[in-house]
Amino acid sequence: MQSLKGKHIVLGISGGIAAYKSAYLLRLFIKAGAEVQVVITPNGKEFITPATLAALSGKPVVSEFFAANTGEWHSHVDLGLWSDLMVIAPATASTIGKMANGVADNMLITTYLSAKSHVMIAPAMDLDMWAHPSTQRNISTLQKDGVEIIMPSSGELASHLVGKGRMQEPDEILRRVELYFSQKESLKGKKILVTAGPTYENIDPVRFIGNYSSGKMGFAIAEEAAARGADVTLVTGPVSLDTACQSIRRIDVRSARQMLDAAEIAFEECDAAILSAAVADYAPEECHDSKIKREKTDGMILKLVKNPDIAATLGAKKKDKVLVGFALETDHEHDNAVEKMKKKSFDMIVLNSLQNPLAGFNKDTNQVCIIKKDGSETEYPAKSKREVASDILDNLEDFFK
Ligand code: PMT
Repeated sequence: MQSLKGKHIVLGISGGIAAYKSAYLLRLFIKAGAEVQVVITPNGKEFITPATLAALSGKPVVSEFFAANTGEWHSHVDLGLWSDLMVIAPATASTIGKMANGVADNMLITTYLSAKSHVMIAPAMDLDMWAHPSTQRNISTLQKDGVEIIMPSSGELASHLVGKGRMQEPDEILRRVELYFSQKESLKGKKILVTAGPTYENIDPVRFIGNYSSGKMGFAIAEEAAARGADVTLVTGPVSLDTACQSIRRIDVRSARQMLDAAEIAFEECDAAILSAAVADYAPEECHDSKIKREKTDGMILKLVKNPDIAATLGAKKKDKVLVGFALETDHEHDNAVEKMKKKSFDMIVLNSLQNPLAGFNKDTNQVCIIKKDGSETEYPAKSKREVASDILDNLEDFFK
């Protein structure tokens, strides 16, 4: 299926080593059916040749204000009007700074300033440049201006230093572009609370009790709900994920107690809550102020006390709100899930089993069975967590009809 068929994309390329990946990104856009116009900065041309990009896009690459031979003026205004989406990948610190301050000294920036369409940028630079207050200030200016940032990932950089600053892979950028074009309005006007990730329960300043939840399932639900127009609050335990969509209100917490406090506030306003977090059922009775010393004890007994049950607390005051829970089971899956749904007043429960190698913690896929309180249930095949999120929201929407 050509997910970008008929879409006009301006692909802006600025001068960083990640520009070599832009050729692959361009190829992905074209294969997905988009018509792509490349605009490249003078420095960008040092990293990748316009000939490669012109061959892949089937269009001459735009770089200068005037054509070299004819002196013909390239109209950035026309390009800005033509585009359904502008994607700048890589976006260097310099380009980001110019965008944030309106420094229109090259064709890419003038096109950006006259673009009527949504704009996404995929920053790429060295870790210290990314972390610099000036870059962060410019990024937050661009966010306020409505530019969508495809946050860089961590890894080895061109400098051989390791840290945050790598441009996201072309596949991920394509996914974000597809997400943008697939946005629906089916949850517009609805406020949705999503809990995600693990909780960490401190033992002392250096140790905690936690679990393997990565937050991927909850973040996928939050993203999909936002893509359907919902007003999303995401309460998340400690994870290493960025929120893809800027409209998501993200609240970072650590412990079950903190998650409960944040969830209770958001719940008051919301129409539905989807509780995908793997909340620790127990926490140490006491959190030591200083590190417990190994020499002081041959062994130790850690006394645990029960954590609050967030789902049951919200369930007790849900009134007409829709409450969706998860059940992560290892045995008697179905019966346990149904019992949990009743006990916690869920309207619907999403059962995933740790027995299934394609389901559960930290996987990119999940395999779920969705059971509703009226007894109906649907078993789904293993899918990406994003697709599972879509199935969950399709079922949730039934409650709003
Ligand atoms: O984050 P990922 O790596 O992507 O993994 C996703 C996941 C496996 C964590 C997710 O799909 C999932 O199953 N989440 C729920 C895990 C869980 O804690 O299940 P449970 O059966 O113990 O809890 C039942 C329900 O009660 C859940 O909705 C849970 O959020 C909620 N709960 C549990 C305990 C507690 N103290 N408070 C709660 O609200």
